[in-house]
Amino acid sequence: MVSQAELLAGVRAARERLAGAGPDRSRRPGDFERVSLPSADGDVLRDLLVSEGARAVIEVGLAYGASALAIAEALVATGAGRGRHLIVDAYQGDFADEGWKVLAKAGLGTICTLLRERSELVLPRLLAEGVVVDAAFVDASHLFHNVFRDLCYLHELVRPGGLVVLDDCDWPSVATAARYFELNLSWHREPAGRPTRLRPYRLPDPRPEPAFDSFVPFGADGAT
Ligand SMILES: C[S@@+](CC[C@H](N)C(=O)[O-])C[C@H]1O[C@@H](n2cnc3c(N)ncnc32)[C@H](O)[C@@H]1O
Repeated sequence: MVSQAELLAGVRAARERLAGAGPDRSRRPGDFERVSLPSADGDVLRDLLVSEGARAVIEVGLAYGASALAIAEALVATGAGRGRHLIVDAYQGDFADEGWKVLAKAGLGTICTLLRERSELVLPRLLAEGVVVDAAFVDASHLFHNVFRDLCYLHELVRPGGLVVLDDCDWPSVATAARYFELNLSWHREPAGRPTRLRPYRLPDPRPEPAFDSFVPFGADGAT
């Protein structure tokens, strides 16, 4: 039986190795750097989840596992190994399973569960199963309609008052999807504490039920 301290040390070492040397295999040169959350932003994500005391997290978009290791580090640090990390990635096979292998090698097989399907199919199923989490991290498809659908389901999967963290809000498609939730469903931008490309949102508590005629037209920042 591995102790919490040993597990935590293993996860930190895996993060360091991945950030320094990259994955064993990548789809093409430079792909890891292109798709992965940089290590400093991973630290911000970890610290947000630690200060949240998060025990259960949904992550959408695994790739080589950089953000997943940061989330797992937070869960191990706060949950003494009892955390739950549900990871959705439809195309992990395209990454030669590198993300999943790095998590398994770090001893995270009991905390992390990989759901190898498109998020637009998995998230409604989790909702129907009654899953509730403390926080979510979204970094999968950047098509507007996919991000928008993911956020619709996460609005209900993340507990009222919980946290949704988005990557890549400099993409108009991602920022526009997020803007709907700010303007119509009272998601509030939460300070991240230090400079980061991540955008954390605090969900309202209680969850609002807007009237059908209260719709606020939305667009990316400055385009509303
Ligand atoms: C930008 S990468 C994620 C990078 C990762 N968060 C990191 O920092 O290491 C996007 C990932 O989303 C996955 N993906 C894309 N569209 C998806 C969808 N509709 N459902 C589930 N996963 C999807 C891809 O397979 C890929 O692994």
